[in-house]
Amino acid sequence: MLRSTLALTLPLALAAALPAQAAGILPWTDAGAVAEGEMLYQDFCASCHGADLEGEPDWRTPKPSGRMPAPPHDETGHTWHHPDRQLFELTKQGVAAVVGRGYESDMMGFGDVLSDDEILAVLAYIKSTWPPRVIETHDRINAAQEGN
Ligand code: HEC
Repeated sequence: MLRSTLALTLPLALAAALPAQAAGILPWTDAGAVAEGEMLYQDFCASCHGADLEGEPDWRTPKPSGRMPAPPHDETGHTWHHPDRQLFELTKQGVAAVVGRGYESDMMGFGDVLSDDEILAVLAYIKSTWPPRVIETHDRINAAQEGN
């Protein structure tokens, strides 16, 4: 139930909060940024999202705390359902801050830990691991947000 709440509220909250952005702010074709992002991912994200981006076991079922486990960042998850700007804000501010309305989440914000460029590099690494058809879909999602 929490999962569906997040899925419903996120696009609305973000569409209202974010200015129109050009499609594609992640430097996922930049080998240097991707290599840096991979190191940062292993240091800051892998403990929850998995060394191979596989997420926590049974990640669709809320934990006893009522909070959601960490979803995979590979193509089996829903990271690629979000345009770049949302991924950036979710990582920078944390999920609870972005969703609002008292939503509780174990995904803290990394705005005090990572610079904006480092956040973009981590997300670029994640995107660089997706198969071409997922990358194409994600590019279309980015393009669709443009003009919102
Ligand atoms: C302490 C564990 C933990 C760490 C460390 C962590 N995450 Fe998360 N992350 C989560 C959880 C749990 C969720 C699901 C939150 C929810 O649905 O309430 C999540 C969700 C996300 C989402 C939203 C995914 C979606 O499809 O909705 C993104 C993006 C994300 N994390 C990126 C990162 C990045 C990038 C890092 C490293 C810089 C990171 N996370 C580190 C636990 C963590």
